[in-house]
Amino acid sequence: MEKKKIGFELLIFDDASELSQNEQKLLHEASMARQNAYAPYSKFRVGAAVLLENGEVIIGSNQENASYPAGLCAERVAIFHAGAKYPGVAVKTIAICASSSKDGTVSPAAPCGNCRQSIIEYEQKQRLPISLLLSSETGPIYKCNSMADILPLAFNSSFLGDS
Ligand code: THU
Repeated sequence: MEKKKIGFELLIFDDASELSQNEQKLLHEASMARQNAYAPYSKFRVGAAVLLENGEVIIGSNQENASYPAGLCAERVAIFHAGAKYPGVAVKTIAICASSSKDGTVSPAAPCGNCRQSIIEYEQKQRLPISLLLSSETGPIYKCNSMADILPLAFNSSFLGDS
């Protein structure tokens, strides 16, 4: 038997001012995007901002539905829009900002499993890591260097015999 420990580097910033100007700007865009969340059911509002290699920023926010599973997370709204608008342009960073009107003190947003899977598809396709900035209204900011870091042993097209 072989044992393997899988870990990753999580960078924790106490304040946005410790980030680069570009990262601060992207987080701000995610926070602004959150204002257009449609979250009447969960009251959990999420904004996402996707920075592309060509400098464009594509935003998204969670969009809920009375038929709950029909809704979509902010991250997927944003990354699918980016893929639709700029196919083939690599994604550099995704900033996410979440807050709840039930309890304003959420810790930094953590993308759900479906969003991780959706984002890693693009990371693997472009063969370049996508970094993540996770935040909430207040509190620390987490930075991960790639989606693979927080989705180890991910399912991908190789399992389908396509690559
Ligand atoms: N949500 C996101 O937008 N992103 C995530 O990564 C986690 C959850 C949304 C989905 C739903 O509208 C609400 O937050 C509560 O789950």
